[in-house]
Amino acid sequence: MTALDRARFQRACGLSELEEDTPKRVELDGTPVSVVRTEGEVFAVNDICSHANVSLSEGEVEDCQIECWLHGSSFDLRTGKPSGLPATRPVPVYPVKIEGDDVLVSLNQES
Ligand code: FES
Repeated sequence: MTALDRARFQRACGLSELEEDTPKRVELDGTPVSVVRTEGEVFAVNDICSHANVSLSEGEVEDCQIECWLHGSSFDLRTGKPSGLPATRPVPVYPVKIEGDDVLVSLNQES
């Protein structure tokens, strides 16, 4: 895959499919992504917790953070950074664009 391909935005889901504070898991080029609509914005982060192989989209969203249900680390949806242990590494955050009802995500991560 070229750098240009990775920068490309692709449709993740429909905006109307997203319920506020309810993460939606999608796969883009085989990469699991959690798409979250919260506080008037849409965010996309890698769906796998940086602590272990757990799907973040099965956790809860609050205060612009997504919580890993297994051990409780929360990740900032804007930066991917964990707020506390046991996770110490951020999860990748992906750029999001909204076009009409389409939520577009680029795997060219922001942080
Ligand atoms: S697996 Fe997510 S905090 Fe441990």
